[in-house]
Amino acid sequence: MKQTVCEEPFERGPKLCAHCGLATEVQGLKRCSRVVAGSHAMQALMVKAAPIAGSDAPVVIRGESGSGKEVLARALHANSPRRSRPFLAVNVAALPGELLESELFGHVKGAFTGAATAKAGLFEAAEGGTLLLDEIAEMPLPLQAKLLRALQDGEVRRVGDTRPFSADVRILCASNQDLAARVTERRFREDLYYRLRVFVLTVPSLRERVPDILPLASMFLEQEKHATCRFTKPARRVLEEHRWPGNVRELANAVKHGAVLSRGADVDAAHLPEEVTSPRAARSSPSALRTLAEVEREHVMQVIEACGGRQTDAARVLGIGRTTLWRKLRAFGIETEE
Ligand SMILES: Nc1ncnc2c1ncn2[C@@H]1O[C@H](COP(=O)(O)OP(=O)(O)O)[C@@H](O)[C@H]1O
Ligand SMILES: [Mg+2]
Repeated sequence: MKQTVCEEPFERGPKLCAHCGLATEVQGLKRCSRVVAGSHAMQALMVKAAPIAGSDAPVVIRGESGSGKEVLARALHANSPRRSRPFLAVNVAALPGELLESELFGHVKGAFTGAATAKAGLFEAAEGGTLLLDEIAEMPLPLQAKLLRALQDGEVRRVGDTRPFSADVRILCASNQDLAARVTERRFREDLYYRLRVFVLTVPSLRERVPDILPLASMFLEQEKHATCRFTKPARRVLEEHRWPGNVRELANAVKHGAVLSRGADVDAAHLPEEVTSPRAARSSPSALRTLAEVEREHVMQVIEACGGRQTDAARVLGIGRTTLWRKLRAFGIETEE
């Protein structure tokens, strides 16, 4: 039986995915070590990611919150020659500018009020490894300039220090925002944007990869020490029909909720959170309603999944030409293959 990142997510087996060639085990995930990627959309993503993993080039990982951007970043690291060195992640949006600068680059003693001792930054701590800059779109402009210099010259300088030191760190960036739009708004440096977007990988939302929902849910249930329990049929239907605005993170929490309430028995629909079982009220509120573009994108992705990933068949079902479909997918930033 083949065990792969992309297929047969339940079976343990050889360490490499037969489909994309990537290692299946990823260190340091909070809730799991396996990357579940059985849907066509995820398989296409992993196939695109595989040759990129081993390079030192920066990668921009796009995708909605909770869709698995950090998981993909960790998979890239785990499949790179840097795997035995640190993988560090920092949420750029969570820290004010000065703190972020010192967090990334470190500081010397007395560099600013409160800098009683010298401190190494993440660039030093991640030496030889990988640094994930999460929510990169929120990085303040002055720091963007410093990051660009670090990427261009491979050198960084601690805050308050005049001497640069060389840093061998691979930079991965994650964003749930459209970086190109931020460039147009002049909130993101164009030169940095082009420097970073050597490769762009887009993680599909969970509702665009319905075949992954139950394998993920079962994996999360196993981790709740409910190895012998299952989901009842109504629960499975509810899980597959929910829209998962919070993506995999929301699913993990819903399973936890269900596991607690079922108290060791099979998890039924009644054990799942209310917003999952009766989403109708939430769905009809204006803020939850989707744009036409979102509806189109999701429908296209559903049809592609239903057609087993075959774009020619999907185009026929959708009643559009193959080239039109291809153009749409490119506009969505979705990587799919025949
Ligand atoms: N493909 C996947 N396989 C297994 N677990 C996943 C997968 N995608 C996401 N998760 C889990 O879902 C949660 C959210 O993923 P994360 O990578 O932090 O999302 P993001 O960075 O896009 O907000 C994490 O607990 C992660 O382990
Ligand atoms: Mg994240």
